[in-house]
Amino acid sequence: MSKKPLILGIESSCDETAASLITENDKGIPVVLSNIISSQVDVHKEFGGVVPELAARSHMEKIDQIVKKAIDDSGRKIDEIDAVASTAGPGLIVCLSVGLSFGKALAASLNKPFIAVNHLEGHALSPKLNSSLNYPYLLLLISGGHSQFLNVQGLGKYKRLGTTIDDALGEAFDKTAKLLGIEFPGGPQIEIMANKGDPNKFHLPKPIIGKGGCNLSFAGLKTAVLKIAKKIQTDKEKFDLAASFQKTVEEILYKKTKIAFNQFEEQNNLREKKFVVAGGVAANKKIRSMLINLCKEENYQNIFPPVELCGDNAAMIAMVGLEKFKIKKFNNLDHPAIPRWPLDEKASFLKGAGVKF
Ligand code: KG4
Ligand code: ZN
Repeated sequence: MSKKPLILGIESSCDETAASLITENDKGIPVVLSNIISSQVDVHKEFGGVVPELAARSHMEKIDQIVKKAIDDSGRKIDEIDAVASTAGPGLIVCLSVGLSFGKALAASLNKPFIAVNHLEGHALSPKLNSSLNYPYLLLLISGGHSQFLNVQGLGKYKRLGTTIDDALGEAFDKTAKLLGIEFPGGPQIEIMANKGDPNKFHLPKPIIGKGGCNLSFAGLKTAVLKIAKKIQTDKEKFDLAASFQKTVEEILYKKTKIAFNQFEEQNNLREKKFVVAGGVAANKKIRSMLINLCKEENYQNIFPPVELCGDNAAMIAMVGLEKFKIKKFNNLDHPAIPRWPLDEKASFLKGAGVKF
């Protein structure tokens, strides 16, 4: 039996410092040996969002301990590592630089290849961890910074079908939470509050629901929530607003995913129809169950990464590293941090008030 690759992944693009070791089993299915994540939520809570300088400082303070713990927890030795993969973008440049420099230095000192990873590609490939998922598949990536539908045709081969033209979905959850007096990041709390409220109490808009293909827009929804939030006082009303917001988001995703299914089928000659949902918001149980039902209706196989691999983590970075290692796609040690790095470089920039459908 040939030796299976052992890949170290490092992630520091935003407010999570993370490291993970992965390998493969005899059937070629990726296996996560360790997955260490240190969140900076407490550092940024009082500011209501991520403060780049504080995030970078915190990454610098923790990165060596996190990587050491990932190696210790894996049960393997540092000199068994075959390649080091670090997130190189997109993200905050001061944060990216920490994990990128650390990964390059470690690879150089071990005399092993270095692999620069696109964070979004990490999310896109996260469902391959612990499974035997093959290309092509349709991906809905819903996180704090991104919301897009992608036709994933292979490693490095992405066609964007739709994207948000303003806020990301996680951002809309966090902003709604803030308006209801919940600390950052409030997305998960909105889900809990929504379970206690009446989803039909407030009628909220679904921007660009009837146009723009499977592109998304959440800014108008947030403004509507703001107007109502100013008037309400009781906890009951807050629960009702959270429930109405959650329901509106589900309805938007239901309609837009159906459109994305059609586009995906037109672009591929499919034997099996597969739909993957990744990113922090994919942890939302109600969104999950709504999408699972939609998959049943439309005859799609649904593949969701386990909840702990939905948010930012380094196992998904190691996953991209593993695929690139197998085809010897390595990077030089002068590889830069890339703050803006879309997966589909050919897709047009669709952001701001100028976008018309
Ligand atoms: O993928 P992620 O960890 O980081 C980014 O790359 O952005 O996503 C974080 C986002 C945050 O906006 C957070 O509020 C949201 O995911 N989120 C949720 C839930 N869990 C995390 N939103 C709604 N419901 C949840 N259960
Ligand atoms: Zn992310």
